[in-house]
Amino acid sequence: MQRRDKIAPSILSADFARLGDEVARVERAGADLIHFDVMDGHFVPNISIGVPVLESLRKVTRLPLDAHLMIENPENYVEVFVKAGANSVSVHAEVCKDIPAMAKRLHDLGARASIAVNPETDVERVLAFAEHLDMILIMSVHPGFGGQGFIPQALDKLRAVRGELDRRGLALDIEIDGGVKLGNIADVKAAGANVFVSGSGIFGMPDYGAIIRQMRERIGQAGTAVHRE
Ligand code: DX5
Ligand code: ZN
Repeated sequence: MQRRDKIAPSILSADFARLGDEVARVERAGADLIHFDVMDGHFVPNISIGVPVLESLRKVTRLPLDAHLMIENPENYVEVFVKAGANSVSVHAEVCKDIPAMAKRLHDLGARASIAVNPETDVERVLAFAEHLDMILIMSVHPGFGGQGFIPQALDKLRAVRGELDRRGLALDIEIDGGVKLGNIADVKAAGANVFVSGSGIFGMPDYGAIIRQMRERIGQAGTAVHRE
């Protein structure tokens, strides 16, 4: 099943003093989505940004805003994020009591529905409800901070999820988040991801256009290699 490959810079690694400019720069550089990390200091040991920032960014970019809610009680907050302009919302499996109900809620609000899974979380419970979802987000770091190293076991999880979705004929997006850089993007593509979050791997580089172009080349080469197998 073919899904479009999308590069999603995570603004957690952007210069927050110039956030509008940073988003404009990655948009010009060819990004497909803006990945927006929300942390509450409870679900993860860090606090980041929330609704007012997303609402402000909605006015300065045409790119879809991909909200990743690393928060407890997500059911209390999804509506405000979608109303502020989030196009897709990822809620963590670890704190989502009813996956089909959450997916329906997001669809009724007009957003794409995604469930995120931490490295130590079994993805079976999410796969059981895959028909309800637009995307599954596989964490390849322990959420909370940008700039961490990629956990290699995430590749096995990607292969398992993509294999199962293919077997069931489901064309969901699979997003990979954490430690994705030019050096490993071909491996995560080959393992089955098609939405690539990268924070420090893009915002840590001097030329966003050059790095996104190179990432796309590596993704394209990995796709071709897999196709020929
Ligand atoms: C981690 C966040 C990620 C983070 C990725 O908790 O969910 O989106 O910004 O940053 P890098 O690509 O630097 O690992
Ligand atoms: Zn994220």
